[in-house]
Amino acid sequence: MWRCPLGLLLLLLLAGELTLGARRGRGRRELAPGLHLRGIRDAGGRYCGGQDLCCRGRADDCALPYLGATCYCDLFCNRTVSDCCPDFWDFCLGVPPPFPPIPGCTHGSRIYPILGTYWDNCNRCTCQEQGQWECDQEPCLVDEDMINAINRGNYGWRAGNHSAFWGMTLDEGIRYRLGTIRPSSSVTNMNEIHTVLGPGEVLPMAFEASEKWPNLIHGPLDQGNCAGSWAFSTAAVASDRVSIHSLGHMAPVLSPQNLLSCNTHNQQGCRGGRLDGAWWFLRRRGVVSDHCYPFMGSERDEAGPAPRCMMHSRAMGRGKRQATARCPSSHVHANDIYQVTPAYRLGSSEKEIMKELMENGPVQALMEVHEDFFLYQGGIYSHTPVSLGRPERYRRHGTHSVKITGWGQETLPDGRTLKYWTAANSWGPAWGERGHFRIVRGANECDIESFVLGVWGRVGMEDMAHR
Ligand SMILES: *[C@@H]1O[C@H](CO)[C@@H](O)[C@H](O)[C@H]1NC(C)=O
Ligand SMILES: *[C@@H]1O[C@H](CO)[C@@H](O)[C@H](O)[C@H]1NC(C)=O
Repeated sequence: MWRCPLGLLLLLLLAGELTLGARRGRGRRELAPGLHLRGIRDAGGRYCGGQDLCCRGRADDCALPYLGATCYCDLFCNRTVSDCCPDFWDFCLGVPPPFPPIPGCTHGSRIYPILGTYWDNCNRCTCQEQGQWECDQEPCLVDEDMINAINRGNYGWRAGNHSAFWGMTLDEGIRYRLGTIRPSSSVTNMNEIHTVLGPGEVLPMAFEASEKWPNLIHGPLDQGNCAGSWAFSTAAVASDRVSIHSLGHMAPVLSPQNLLSCNTHNQQGCRGGRLDGAWWFLRRRGVVSDHCYPFMGSERDEAGPAPRCMMHSRAMGRGKRQATARCPSSHVHANDIYQVTPAYRLGSSEKEIMKELMENGPVQALMEVHEDFFLYQGGIYSHTPVSLGRPERYRRHGTHSVKITGWGQETLPDGRTLKYWTAANSWGPAWGERGHFRIVRGANECDIESFVLGVWGRVGMEDMAHR
């Protein structure tokens, strides 16, 4: 008769359970093919080493995520079909890995295969045959050394990393973020208007257009990677002036795209344009609102065709014009054409510009943009000498245009008092001081006082009933 003591039976059962339980916990590791056998061998790096993770014997929680799977740093990992972390062999055992090391380059905690790449700001790095990285050496638009040098130097303004510029080269910044062509000398000499300050006339210490004309001054635009500042600054100044001169009966944001696509005679859309040409177009053809004809952005592909003109106007007597096309934006119906009178050039004196600004509204100014201006985050800008010691290709500049909206002065912590202009840029509201910047006034800083334009919105009696 077969008899078995109950105690022993229980013990056997329990032991069975125990081994089963352990199996189940470890089951995945044993069933799954090893990482190396699954061909996952092209990314190594610091895993066990990174967290100082080396466990004696078998410890199922001695594990790390590894390329969508799990790798282990316990001694047991080498007895299974190999699910050891890539650095287990040399870090935990101090022996060379049993698999031949894959040729490649490390960056961060990763190994990249030969010809693998990563981006270091604006430069592409490629893994070479010898296991070495080779990176392009372009000057970048956001340059940490320049940021630090400016912030150390007490220049009256702060520099920082504008994230939309991260990854762009300085050359791309100059090519895609500006876009005003310097006027020819015949234009520069043209119709300069001199305003005269009356006897005893004093201008205020500070002025801001948005305080004098609340709700009539429009926020900064964003030209993206379209070198069309000629169209953006013109639309911005015209929008404010049409609003001011119609006493708020019309307060449109005028369409830069209308200019970019339709003002094509001697103009190059997102590859640059002239201010005199833009004002000629606003006077003779007029443009619709930005709602009606929204900005279409720009690919950085300079070879691509410019988007065709989708708005036209015809004369309707007394110099006024009306649209002959529907709004390109399908849900906007108001396709009124806005026009201006001939633009006039102001004398390059600080006081004349101030008087015009205070009496008639924001003015347009040409400006020479240098490499450090892209980094501006606040304060009173002036071009700094921080790039002077660097090779020529780090010192670049290009012509831009902006909307001057006011002035003021500020005493710096070091006791200097700086006079400044406030101006709206067209690099979006996240750049600078909410899309605006302040720049030294009275010193023709960056040529900003050398070519300043004003204009009158063309407003008839009928427009006053517009709203
Ligand atoms: C795994 O590691 C142990 C402990 O160092 C060693 O004795 C054993 O030989 C290793 N096994 C394999 C397959 O490498
Ligand atoms: C700059 O900003 C970008 C985008 O926000 C970020 O990825 C990058 O790490 C920043 N660089 C520096 C040096 O702060």
